[in-house]
Amino acid sequence: MANKKPEWNNAMKNEGLDDMTLLSKVTNDQILDNLKKRFEKDIIYTSIGDVLIAVNPFKQIPIYTDEILEDYVGKSRIELPPHVFSVAEQTYRSMINEKENQCVIISGESGAGKTETAKLIMRYIAQVSGEKGSTSNKKVEHIKSIILETNPLLEAFGNAKTLRNNNSSRFGKYFEIQFNKTNEPEGGKITNYLLEKSRVTWQLNGERNFHIFYQFCKGATKKEQDEFGIYGPENFAYLAKGNTLDIDGVDDVEEFQLTRNAMNVIGITAQEQHNIFKLLAAILWIGNIEFKELPGDKSQVSDQSVLDFVSQLIEVPNNFLKTALEFRQMETRHGNQRGTQYNVPLNKTQAQSGRDALAKAIYDRLFNWLVLRINKAMENPNKGLLIGVLDIYGFEVFDKNGFDQMVINYINEKLQQIFIEFTLKMEQEEYVREGIKWEPIQYFDNKIVCELIEGKNPPGIFSILDDVCRAVHSQSEGADQSLIQRIAVCKANPHFDTRGNAFCVKHYAGDVTYEGPGMIEKNKDTLLKDHLEILQMSGNSFLTALFPDEIDQDSKKLPTTAGFKIKTQAAELVSTLMKSTPHYIRCLKPNDVKKPNVFEGPRVMHQIKYLGLLDNIKVRRAGFAYRTLFQKFLERYYLLSDKTCYAANMIWKGDPLSGCRAILASQNVDATHFQIGKSKIFIRYPEMLFSLEETRERYWHDMASRIKNAYRNYKSFQEECSNRIKNAFRNYKLYKVRCAQTIQGYYRAWKQASPYFDMRAKNEQLIQNRKERNRFSVLSVRKFFGDYLDVRSQGYFLDAMAEGRNEEVIFSAKCQVVVHPILSANKLSPRFLIVTKQHIYTIKLKQKKNLATYLLDRKIPVSDVNAFSFSNLADNFIFIHTAQEFDLAVVCDFKTEIMALLNQQKGTQLPVNINQQIQYFKKKSSNNTITFVKDEMHKEVFFKKNQAHIATGLPASTPINKVRKNPSVKNTSSGVPKQIPKFSGTVPKPSAKPMGKPMPQPGGGPKPMAKPMAQPGGAPQKPMAKPMPQPGGAPMSKPLPQPGAGAPVGGAKPMAKPMPQPGGGPKPMAKPMAQPGAPVAKQPVGRGTPMPSQPNGGPSKPMPQPGGTPMAKPTPGAPKPVAMKPKPQAPSQPTVQMLALYDYDANQPDELTFKEGDVLTLVKKVDADWWLAQNTSGTKGMVPSVYLEVQK
Ligand SMILES: Nc1ncnc2c1ncn2[C@@H]1O[C@H](COP(=O)(O)OP(=O)(O)O)[C@@H](O)[C@H]1O
Ligand SMILES: [Mg+2]
Repeated sequence: MANKKPEWNNAMKNEGLDDMTLLSKVTNDQILDNLKKRFEKDIIYTSIGDVLIAVNPFKQIPIYTDEILEDYVGKSRIELPPHVFSVAEQTYRSMINEKENQCVIISGESGAGKTETAKLIMRYIAQVSGEKGSTSNKKVEHIKSIILETNPLLEAFGNAKTLRNNNSSRFGKYFEIQFNKTNEPEGGKITNYLLEKSRVTWQLNGERNFHIFYQFCKGATKKEQDEFGIYGPENFAYLAKGNTLDIDGVDDVEEFQLTRNAMNVIGITAQEQHNIFKLLAAILWIGNIEFKELPGDKSQVSDQSVLDFVSQLIEVPNNFLKTALEFRQMETRHGNQRGTQYNVPLNKTQAQSGRDALAKAIYDRLFNWLVLRINKAMENPNKGLLIGVLDIYGFEVFDKNGFDQMVINYINEKLQQIFIEFTLKMEQEEYVREGIKWEPIQYFDNKIVCELIEGKNPPGIFSILDDVCRAVHSQSEGADQSLIQRIAVCKANPHFDTRGNAFCVKHYAGDVTYEGPGMIEKNKDTLLKDHLEILQMSGNSFLTALFPDEIDQDSKKLPTTAGFKIKTQAAELVSTLMKSTPHYIRCLKPNDVKKPNVFEGPRVMHQIKYLGLLDNIKVRRAGFAYRTLFQKFLERYYLLSDKTCYAANMIWKGDPLSGCRAILASQNVDATHFQIGKSKIFIRYPEMLFSLEETRERYWHDMASRIKNAYRNYKSFQEECSNRIKNAFRNYKLYKVRCAQTIQGYYRAWKQASPYFDMRAKNEQLIQNRKERNRFSVLSVRKFFGDYLDVRSQGYFLDAMAEGRNEEVIFSAKCQVVVHPILSANKLSPRFLIVTKQHIYTIKLKQKKNLATYLLDRKIPVSDVNAFSFSNLADNFIFIHTAQEFDLAVVCDFKTEIMALLNQQKGTQLPVNINQQIQYFKKKSSNNTITFVKDEMHKEVFFKKNQAHIATGLPASTPINKVRKNPSVKNTSSGVPKQIPKFSGTVPKPSAKPMGKPMPQPGGGPKPMAKPMAQPGGAPQKPMAKPMPQPGGAPMSKPLPQPGAGAPVGGAKPMAKPMPQPGGGPKPMAKPMAQPGAPVAKQPVGRGTPMPSQPNGGPSKPMPQPGGTPMAKPTPGAPKPVAMKPKPQAPSQPTVQMLALYDYDANQPDELTFKEGDVLTLVKKVDADWWLAQNTSGTKGMVPSVYLEVQK
């Protein structure tokens, strides 16, 4: 926070020293130099430790903006450049922290800027205290506005243009603001001192009366003008004495509005305002009463009409008023006995002076009433802490100085005393008391001057004045002479001397010669009895209330003198100030011409000297910036040490001093930076104190930010939770859809496969325990596809089938058959095997004139088939025994399917023989035996000399579910996710992902579900790439059907390579496909067209085709690839358009991928959930109906 300084500060870097305590040489010249350097750069504030020095710039400098004010809030003195806001901040903050009353003492000559400074302090406090902008506490806001509005009001009535200052305060004031427990202003009080009432009747040339008269004369309403006889100021004698009616740059009419507004804010009623203006008018009109000289040293009011108007305004009968003005009531006295009263006529001068006294008395009382009225508005019965701001006229020296100047200078002496007491004397005394090591500083103590003025024994000037007043009583003749004689006793004081009719006092601020004549009169300050009488008979209660004085002046009681009053007030003020912590602002006046940018060296030097800035610096440098009681220090800084504080609570149980030491030790404070006294701890440098403060602040700040962070975390946790719940719910919904889809899929697959399941179950029994198992055979039940070669669309097959071309094909596949060449050994030869409802065909490919030609090899009526044989090993041989001359020995992946279909066709279960040797008829009545031998050398069937070499398969007893349980298979087997996948965190709209991919799971947790969901048939980790034909014949026994091999099984691995399609070339699959595993024994799997050839997860090789040649490759030797005919299209239906609501990625090869917004054409509603559709490029496939919206 310390590095954020107001802009203007940066510009003033290196422009003299901010704090003159740091001057290299402590001399008055250095001080002057520093101030001058800064003044020239418009840096008007400089400090000496806590004391602020302000040099009046006599121009507006933009350093009082709200932004700059805000900058000072909460900052310690050294954090920002010296400023009146900084003093205000320290004052306010000390009040809060120390719980003690504070005061700001602003001193300086007239025009040095005291009042402006006081206003800035008020503004700062009003602005930073209480809740900003809140109107929750009406009272606080009200008090604040009164505090701010008293300025324009009191300035109107108490300020005037003087030669030194266009807005010179002609009274002193001490403004106390009272704070409530939450440190908001809740009340206030003004004490006013010595209004310069002589100004009401007389001004120096170039000066004005109090502002309010000019404002009133220029701004009065028509009604007021008529009622009070108000005209322009030039018409009133009292306003024209100084020949100055206006002030440059000041609009009195405008100011009058502000004054009236201030009255309203403060709550001065319309009636009260009326009374005030009536009295103001009366004063003006009193001033216009002229006297003419009459013979016999008498005088007479010149213009009766003026007198009449005045008597009308003050509501006193005109004859009484006339008498009071023209005569003085006298009384004969005989010792203590009262005599007779008689009227003594007044000469013109006496009459004029009496008239002026009347006007001054009224104004003085009016001003006091105003202050009391403001106080009433700010009154608060509660007791609270106070901040007082003292703005009192500064030291004055004129060519001729009288009683007023002496009083003013006396007050300034008293203030200087307090300053010395606080900054110099008390400080040093305290060091002695506390036993602090310390080098005493010599300084001038002005106590002796105060004694000279206020002392009783020996009598001071005020005492002598009072004595003389008493002695001369109502006679003024000879009084002045008497004073000069008696005051000579003061010569014993070295600060006093007499000069003829005058005397000289050596003030701390300089020598001042006071004129003797007039002093006694001024000191008496008693209202003429005649005047008091007529004012008290006024019909205007407002006026009579201003003069509640006792009429009887003959009592033994001594009348109070002005000197006595001022002494009492000064003593009260001093005692108030001494009860508060003082803050000093010393205002300096750079020139006497009120001009900006003029720095008169000697003028400033004079002020530097009498303000004692040099001593101030010296004491400061030698002393300690801060001291406080051990207990107080502990209470304030216990947060700083973990020995004294735990979780912001004070835990110190020992004595306060040891606690203080623990705190200082925790902060590594250098031993030379503090001293321990008897009851107090003394901190030498303010910087150290500020650093303690900052650490303390930071503690709270850290606490606050911890709470803030915790709250923020809590909020974001809340949000995160709600997001998660939302996501989880969405996932759950999606999951439900997926589950339903999965179940539907399985159900569909099961529906399709279930007939074969039964078929297989039957066959299974025949094979069980009798034949070693091919891994693929035991994996699952698959749907029998039958016509793998799509014979109907292959004209060359149909051609080869000749007259059988119209028969219904129930099965077709590539295979190998055992051929029996006449002169050579039996061997395997590729064939196409086609089974129709009527016949079994084997078709071979022959090269004829470089053309591949399909020729019918054999044709066996289905009705002739009467048995099947299988080896007992894990091969793909099937021997189809017939009633014909010879049998058919076939090697085919789909041996079980062949058997099953033929059985079905025949409507019976033909016998099955399983043996190690299979015998069959290779020709009419010619037997051939193939022996099946185990041979691990050959992973694929090796057929030679009627021996089929077969690698060991799974044990014959292997049930299908046993395979599924095989741990090596377990984790790769499922097509449906084997574990419920991770929750990804973001769930988009339902877009069908491949089933093998993670499926969002309700709950969204990262944990896998303990039990995999619906885990259908497993797949071997390493698929056996090719079926192995086996050599060797076996004696024909009962052939048993086998479960379908190469059932479509799910796997997590994508199919990287093209998957051969039955009867077609390799068709690349664009997307990795994860297929549902084939269910074993129970659950049929696979929704779409089964893929007979690709074992689960088969990563690399195309599935070998019966006959040993992958379909992908052209048949060896065949010059022309066999062209595939397009499949016949489904008959067209009336078009129904469907709009895709979401993206869908095909999960199965028979499905169609589409994007949200695509338009598809309905081909067929296969069932409620799955429809056959065609996209715009003509591709057909199954689509989930829930993703689509049928367009009307
Ligand atoms: N900080 C300031 N910035 C600008 N002008 C100032 C400042 N302080 C005083 N002045 C000018 O000096 C004049 C006299 O100031 P004021 O406070 O009335 O003096 P004092 O109260 O000491 O007699 C003001 O009217 C104003 O024009
Ligand atoms: Mg002032």
